[in-house]
Amino acid sequence: MARHIDILENPETAIAEATTTLAEGLPIGLPTETVYGLAADATNPAAIARIYETKGRPRFNPLICHMSDLAMAERYAVFDPISRKLAEAFWPGPLTLVLPLRPESGIHPLATAGLDTVGIRVPQGFAGALIRAFDRPLAAPSANTSGKISATSADHVDDDLGERISLILDAGASVVGVESTIVKVEDGEIRLLRPGGLAASEIERVAGKALKRKKKASAAIEAPGMLASHYAPGAAVRLDATDISANEALIRFGTPDIAGIERAIAVLDLSPSGDLSEAAANLFDFMKRADASGAVTIAFSHIPDEGLGEAINDRLRRAAAPRE
Ligand code: TXA
Ligand code: MG
Repeated sequence: MARHIDILENPETAIAEATTTLAEGLPIGLPTETVYGLAADATNPAAIARIYETKGRPRFNPLICHMSDLAMAERYAVFDPISRKLAEAFWPGPLTLVLPLRPESGIHPLATAGLDTVGIRVPQGFAGALIRAFDRPLAAPSANTSGKISATSADHVDDDLGERISLILDAGASVVGVESTIVKVEDGEIRLLRPGGLAASEIERVAGKALKRKKKASAAIEAPGMLASHYAPGAAVRLDATDISANEALIRFGTPDIAGIERAIAVLDLSPSGDLSEAAANLFDFMKRADASGAVTIAFSHIPDEGLGEAINDRLRRAAAPRE
């Protein structure tokens, strides 16, 4: 088990212990508003290698580099006017911008998978304060074994990676619950690389134009690392369920009519009032709970594709994708 430090009870100890561990080149469990990250010094190749090793990632994918604020981000990447406008509107927050990397930025190529771009995000709350104290960007994928469900609490991190890391900072449940929205501005167009915790409509409102989405039919992986099967619980996953069979757990959204609901091994409601933000915050924890119920299959009722529903459905399609 890793050592836990509660950031609300002991903020100074948390910063001191975390900066010491990071300076030693070791990854830590770091709470952010989206999900818990497995964070390490983005300028230290040994530290980044340990992220891959700890997650058991099969190959080197570009990692998101977390900064304390826009001024810090400008030291590492070049901002076009649209990206700057989005950063000013949504940072700190669940938005990642893919930007051209500055030459000699100091971010190690292992963190960017050798690309000439970098994914940057400024997280809310404690993580931002820690980065300010450490004064270096932190590379941080979600704190879970590769391919498994992302962690939205310190206990999730500990259950999955506790044997492999020494320190987890504990800030309770992640408020957003799904990973950041990733966009890349190219030739004045904003491409949505991954739907996430910031609704696409919010970005469109500030930018004053529609996002370019990849065509639903295309199987092409736009952002490296966006593998088809991902977020996979032990149980199989079935979407748009309108009935329940034996050995199934039900995760519903509101209270749709579900035939055979009395047969369900477990019934969890992502949001009784039909609030997609609440549903996103509960998603990964409920998937873990449904998995722990012993169900062979987790059936999900329909979730609308608007607002944060786009990110939820993206994660669910990956969870339901054929496993390798
Ligand atoms: O909310 C989040 O974004 C969380 C928390 C911890 O901040 N982090 C996260 O990181 O989800 P990760 O490593 O699981 O997702 C990184 C993804 C990559 O798989 C890739 O798709 C995209 O971000 N990415 C990163 N850098 C990129 C780049 N230079 N070009 C294109 N895509 C990039
Ligand atoms: Mg992940």
